[in-house]
Amino acid sequence: MKTLIGFTLLSLAGTALTAQAASTEYQDIEHGRYLSVLGDCAACHTANEEQPLAGGVSLETPFGTLVAPNITPDAETGLGNWTFEDFKGTMTEGIGKGGYHLYPAMPYPAYTLMRDEDLRDLWAYLRTVSPVNHDVEANQLPFPFNIRLAMMGWNWLNFDDRDFQPDPDRPDDINRGAYLVEGLDHCGTCHTPRNFMGGDGDGKFTGAIVDDWLAPNITPDPHKGIGGWSEDELVEYLKTGGNRFDFASGPMADEVRHSSQYWTDDDLHAVARYLLTGAGIDETASSADAPEPLAQSNAQVQAGSKIYFDRCAGCHKTDGSGENGMFPQLAENPLINNDNASSLIRVVLAGSRAVDTDAKPTAPAMPAFGWDLSDDQIANVVTFVRNSWGNAAPTVSAGDVAEMRKALQGE
Ligand code: HEC
Ligand code: HEC
Ligand code: HEC
Repeated sequence: MKTLIGFTLLSLAGTALTAQAASTEYQDIEHGRYLSVLGDCAACHTANEEQPLAGGVSLETPFGTLVAPNITPDAETGLGNWTFEDFKGTMTEGIGKGGYHLYPAMPYPAYTLMRDEDLRDLWAYLRTVSPVNHDVEANQLPFPFNIRLAMMGWNWLNFDDRDFQPDPDRPDDINRGAYLVEGLDHCGTCHTPRNFMGGDGDGKFTGAIVDDWLAPNITPDPHKGIGGWSEDELVEYLKTGGNRFDFASGPMADEVRHSSQYWTDDDLHAVARYLLTGAGIDETASSADAPEPLAQSNAQVQAGSKIYFDRCAGCHKTDGSGENGMFPQLAENPLINNDNASSLIRVVLAGSRAVDTDAKPTAPAMPAFGWDLSDDQIANVVTFVRNSWGNAAPTVSAGDVAEMRKALQGE
């Protein structure tokens, strides 16, 4: 009897051990799934929501079109035969299984900062995704850009195989924010200007054009950047897709929808704190001097103000203050002050629907005015908005509007 009890106890302990191992494994996979959300792999690798990560999203690059491949564990068309080492080489060096060089449209120059244990969890998760047989030819670039070897030269000039180094002088949450913003979240891929080769240019986070949208300045510059936003306002934007200044549209709507709305509150605050303290920014790159607005007697400003009070003030209010949660505030709005007015012209021409998130399910919409206002009228109203209620920014010409009209017809 004694031995029997002893045996039962032993086998019970054994079950507990396997259960514990299983739950650690489950936690690793669950953590890997969260990392895939932080890294927004789906934005490029999921074209069809019913076949997650089976590839097929086309990406326009300065060199031509690339299609994100199938990264499900299918043996024939996905990563079924890959080892962890193959995966790690891709994420940290941009080298695929067998040694080919990836194009940096896959954000490995940012993912390279990922820690080994995070890469392992992410890999463990990717092994659990349903395998989908879907053949994708990633490289659809024209000659000579279709030659992968050229990427060796690109890497040599543009890519730093770095590890993440926490700064011992910074608090843990700011270091966590740095790890996310610079690495997995790859915010700079859209918000940092590109150099002529498509690598990171000068002026980190000072804004860049992505698919005819302006990814604005997200430095703490009080005039052109988000220095006037509180930490909570930035968290609100990333979590719900909007705050009193702005709603996320275009590529940022995708970022919020697939990624940041699902981040933990700790990670949202870590990212916001890192960005707002300017920890990642070269001081010389952002100019804090606010320019002077155009005089209210300026002919464009006067013509624009009439259109504004007629057509826009109903929603955005006569003093540009908007309505929190419904209509963005145009007064003292960094997006409005950016030197580059493309997003504003685009929104007025074509209208825009803000992102809907779990937290804010019904997205407000901005009507299109392109059918009804001329290029001149749009140039004037945008110039008025850019030089009223604390805003100050260069004028917009009818030619700028005509150019955007043409670009939008091409889409
Ligand atoms: C901005 C778009 C984008 C995002 C975000 C992105 N990828 Fe990619 N990925 C690509 C493109 C494009 C390629 C193909 C590059 C090439 O063939 O040169 C690629 C290739 C890959 C490959 C190599 C597959 C193969 O068959 O060669 C792996 C693995 C991969 N991505 C994993 C990931 C993971 C994991 C994430 C999220 C952490 C991710 N990617 C996020 C665009 C993206
Ligand atoms: C795929 C490209 C892309 C990525 C990746 C991206 N953004 Fe954006 N972001 C944009 C675009 C485009 C806009 C402008 C959206 C609009 O006009 O509504 C924007 C807008 C913003 C704004 C609003 C700024 C303002 O003045 O209104 C903030 C804040 C922001 N992004 C933060 C981030 C952070 C933080 C990350 C990384 C977690 C990130 N973005 C990643 C493209 C991107
Ligand atoms: C029916 C209400 C309504 C009217 C009228 C309206 N807007 Fe908007 N506007 C919105 C909403 C809602 C958004 C946010 C949409 C989004 O982010 O996708 C917006 C966004 C904008 C933005 C982008 C601001 C930002 O921070 O993202 C600008 C600029 C703008 N409107 C200017 C104008 C101008 C100029 C007019 C008049 C010609 C006008 N609006 C008329 C509702 C309106």
